[in-house]
Amino acid sequence: MKLSIIGTGHVGLVTGGCFAEYGHQVVCVDSDARKIDLLRSRRMPIYEPGLEELVLRHVDAGRLRFSTDIKDAVRDGEIIFICVGTPALAGGRADMSYIDKVSRDIAANLEEYRVVVEKSTVPVQTGRNVKMLIGKYVKKDVPFDVASNPEFLREGSAIADTLHPERVVIGVESGRAEELLRKAYAPFNAKIVVTDIHSAELIKHASNAYLAMKISYINAIAAVCEASGADVEQVADGMGMDSRIVRSFLNAGIGYGGYCFPKDVEALIHISQEMGYDFGLLREVQRINLDQRERFVKKVEKELWVIKDKTIGLLGLSFKPNTDDVRESPAIEVAKKLLERGARIRAYDPKGSEKAARILEGVTFCKDPYEAATGADALALVTEWQEFKTLDFARIKGVMAHPTLIDGRNLLDPATMRKLGFTYRSVGRA
Ligand code: UGA
Repeated sequence: MKLSIIGTGHVGLVTGGCFAEYGHQVVCVDSDARKIDLLRSRRMPIYEPGLEELVLRHVDAGRLRFSTDIKDAVRDGEIIFICVGTPALAGGRADMSYIDKVSRDIAANLEEYRVVVEKSTVPVQTGRNVKMLIGKYVKKDVPFDVASNPEFLREGSAIADTLHPERVVIGVESGRAEELLRKAYAPFNAKIVVTDIHSAELIKHASNAYLAMKISYINAIAAVCEASGADVEQVADGMGMDSRIVRSFLNAGIGYGGYCFPKDVEALIHISQEMGYDFGLLREVQRINLDQRERFVKKVEKELWVIKDKTIGLLGLSFKPNTDDVRESPAIEVAKKLLERGARIRAYDPKGSEKAARILEGVTFCKDPYEAATGADALALVTEWQEFKTLDFARIKGVMAHPTLIDGRNLLDPATMRKLGFTYRSVGRA
């Protein structure tokens, strides 16, 4: 099939590459000429494991191409996937101006039947507005359908998530749109869930908010563990054996971050409010999440007494491992709090330093964890990169001013670290 993707961010680029992998002919369009130039010169605007190889392979095979012209997308694709951003505005409401603009541009170029699909995460009832807008701005009486097909990929494992989805949600209001979307997804061999458009939109927001709630829940339990002497890992393992609960997203730490959870929880609170429902539960999820960073900084403070003028080695900057994405990263927020208290920070991240350097001032960015630990009064582990698990901790101890390690992601084993001579603190573990 011929498919078009509008927006070449994380979702758009990965989706385009994966559709090409299953044999479709794909054009990816973006209004940002610099991004398209970069892609045409065989470079990726984001880091995602396996993405460069996937994209280049299909560019070379002639199945994937890039354009700045939305006309290309509307002319070429039987289905047009909208993958543009919906960032949060001040006050929490999702900014729908990019979707609005793209909808009008699609309408202006519509010559024959197309299915216009929202793939970006959008508030419930967005599809209705997209339909209204295209209907208003379409030049001739061209038939079209609007559909919702939310994306559930995670940064860092985006390609595997997209190639082998646990479910494909298709929100439609016509048999013709359903048939075309089923055809596009047939090679994926996935479970397809067909719903109305509103429900498909809400499945996405409700899923992300639920996962965020799970994280805040275990972080609250971790606080009770710290107060009582219980161990949050053992509690999570025990809870996770219940098939109604399951173990994933029960890892206590310094809280969730990234481009999706904070924005989506906020947007769901906001849209619910607009519709007359006060989603107080999600406000508490946010409060616990923010508090988790403060609790971590207090732990550092407890070990150092005064943070001012102390050197702190920071391991991690990205919001989670296997990505260079530092947007809404809890690690960055912790760094800011330590800087506010007068710390000297030496930071290392395998991928995120370049982007972090645009946000954090007054931090020394180091080329490896050992350089970050050099002269440090404490080491703060704030992103759970697997490579931090296998560091030469004897060497780390040797270069530090004092071997204090505060593990905000429960990555390391407390008994091993103590045996190595570290003063070791973590989250919700005795
Ligand atoms: C999330 C969802 O998992 C995807 O299904 C969704 O498609 C995506 O948002 C989106 O809406 O685009 P992502 O933001 O890439 O994906 O990252 P996650 O792996 O979900 O992690 C989010 C945050 O939660 C990270 O900061 C992570 O460190 C934190 N987390 C996760 C915990 O603190 N504890 C856990 O047990 C799990």
